[in-house]
Amino acid sequence: MLESLEGFIKPGSEEESLVNQLDFNRLPRHVAVIMDGNGRWAKKRNRPRVEGHRAGSKSVREIVETCGRIGIQYLSLYAFSKENWKRPKKEIATLWRLLEDYLKKEDKVLVKNNFRLKVIGQKTSIPQSVIEELERVEALTKNNDRLTILLALNYGGRSEIVDAVKRIMEDPDLKSDSLDEAKFSQYLYTADIPDPDLLIRTSGELRVSNFLLWQIAYSEIWITEELWPDFRKKHLLHALVEFQKRERRFGDIRPNVEHT
Ligand code: IPE
Ligand code: IPE
Ligand code: MG
Repeated sequence: MLESLEGFIKPGSEEESLVNQLDFNRLPRHVAVIMDGNGRWAKKRNRPRVEGHRAGSKSVREIVETCGRIGIQYLSLYAFSKENWKRPKKEIATLWRLLEDYLKKEDKVLVKNNFRLKVIGQKTSIPQSVIEELERVEALTKNNDRLTILLALNYGGRSEIVDAVKRIMEDPDLKSDSLDEAKFSQYLYTADIPDPDLLIRTSGELRVSNFLLWQIAYSEIWITEELWPDFRKKHLLHALVEFQKRERRFGDIRPNVEHT
């Protein structure tokens, strides 16, 4: 057992048996999560949808901590899409307030654990007080290097690509001859961040909902019926174990040994 998991994983538990199946030398570097199913979780309990979002923030805490302890380097969390503005005003307001509360409480935990927070998405149209909190916590954690949490807010994969094209067009030093896939990636919100190896979606929906469209070109996809507020470390460990059973070929006929 990794030292960082002692006291976190109960001896004899299902989690422990999953941890024992993991090869820590072949972990995904980057895990991306579409955190879905909060509304359905609340509905099942005859509670308002916002209760589901509140419960979902507990899952965020647990998954962030688990990723840090296991040694995942990058965790992307889809928290608010550009399309989510279509929801009722009250639900939207609660989502932003929950995020603000999370940042106010979790900043110390992020610092203590050497975690970095980085926002991806368009900061415009996010409420000002939330932007201030986000920028404060980003600045506070910018030199941390254990786990980078990419929080996708007001995020759309197509918008990200359009934004990249705009920045390319405005770059006087860039000649079209020198533009290739690697160069293009540098204009995305995720410049310098490796592509997700594993994409997890909760609540059983079989779609990507405009998340990291460019970056998931070769990600392994794992979808669980579990609703996000029920998603716990054992579910993440299960996804990691399943990920390690996949054979990644990247178009070749043999498995690629450089990638996990
Ligand atoms: C995911 O849960 C949270 C956000 C999209 C902000 P949903 O709110 O989409 O929950 P369902 O899909 O309606 O159950
Ligand atoms: C995707 O979930 C966005 C987030 C998890 C933030 P949605 O619930 O918005 O996705 P659709 O509408 O079911 O595709
Ligand atoms: Mg949903």
